[in-house]
Amino acid sequence: MENRKRFGLDIGTSRIVLAHASGDSFQFDSQLNAFVSLPFSKLTCSVLEKEGIPHSRVDGQILVFGDASERFADLLHTETRRPMLEGTLNPSEPDGLAVVRAIVELLAGPGDKTGCKLCYSVPAAPLGSPEGTKFHNAALHQMLTELGYEVRSLEEGLAVVFAELADSNYTGIGISCGAGLSNVCLAYLSVPVVSFSLPRAGDHVDRGAAGAAGEVATRVRVLKEQYFSLNGHAPEQLPAKLRQALRVYYDDLIHSLIAAMQEAFEEQRALPRLNRPLPLVLAGGSVLPPGFRERFEQALRAADFPLRVSEVRLASDPLHATAKGALVAALADM
Ligand SMILES: Nc1ncnc2c1ncn2[C@@H]1O[C@H](COP(=O)(O)OP(=O)(O)O)[C@@H](O)[C@H]1O
Ligand SMILES: [Mg+2]
Repeated sequence: MENRKRFGLDIGTSRIVLAHASGDSFQFDSQLNAFVSLPFSKLTCSVLEKEGIPHSRVDGQILVFGDASERFADLLHTETRRPMLEGTLNPSEPDGLAVVRAIVELLAGPGDKTGCKLCYSVPAAPLGSPEGTKFHNAALHQMLTELGYEVRSLEEGLAVVFAELADSNYTGIGISCGAGLSNVCLAYLSVPVVSFSLPRAGDHVDRGAAGAAGEVATRVRVLKEQYFSLNGHAPEQLPAKLRQALRVYYDDLIHSLIAAMQEAFEEQRALPRLNRPLPLVLAGGSVLPPGFRERFEQALRAADFPLRVSEVRLASDPLHATAKGALVAALADM
């Protein structure tokens, strides 16, 4: 009974995922973290209402948000807009926080949330700029508190550790490669030792490959998700030039991540408590192309990595690992 009142929330640049426990298993619901705005009209509002399409009214506009926004963007020949950019609230979208709030309310369903406990993911600070995520974290904390939840935040890399590394007593390296950011956490017995984020993930791959192949980023994303792999497979739906560009930007992502970890973990090299080999888990939507894990491991083994790594594996459910880890924390620690 108690468990139903606990939630894990992953607020990602591309998707928002809500996890709750149901009996012995975890359930996940997600929505795109995106919206389109339409000019306000009573008629449009009532039609959206009738069709059950999630929307809200803000300053003379109607905002259609979540999964439905993609259909509307198609229909209107525009791109969806995004409340977040590179892992934090997008300063050039003033309605961003209101959209995130509306999506969280949609996922959680109606009803009073007073007394419910919710743990939500936040990005770790980027390497070398500890202040980078403060505003984002504070704004989310306030918004979720206003909805009635008792809240706490959890860095995304540590959430991956909580979701996937129970077997090693929450000791190891958790990595989440999403759309806007990659997040990394080195944890020892559930305590984060080093965490950081890096502005290299799916969006960077899409933008880079789109520029190189003369495409638009949205189309690149769709083709990438359907057809791209890193194991040499070359489906005819993916033009050769685009495949090659995606490969270049994926290699860049992998090498940047490993280089950033080398820099961040260097000081841990001498620590005897981390002397045993550590498992490394990969999560997030950007680890999904077939062959990603193998390519990552190959690059890691070739690098002068400061820590011994026992295995490189994919999370059991890469798109839900962060929300799962946040729920694990909400159940164990709130
Ligand atoms: N099958 C797939 N193959 C490659 N990339 C994918 C696939 N599915 C999703 N992605 C990419 O994963 C990213 C979204 O991952 P997600 O973990 O949901 O991100 P975030 O946490 O930032 O919202 C996007 O860049 C998307 O294009
Ligand atoms: Mg995410």
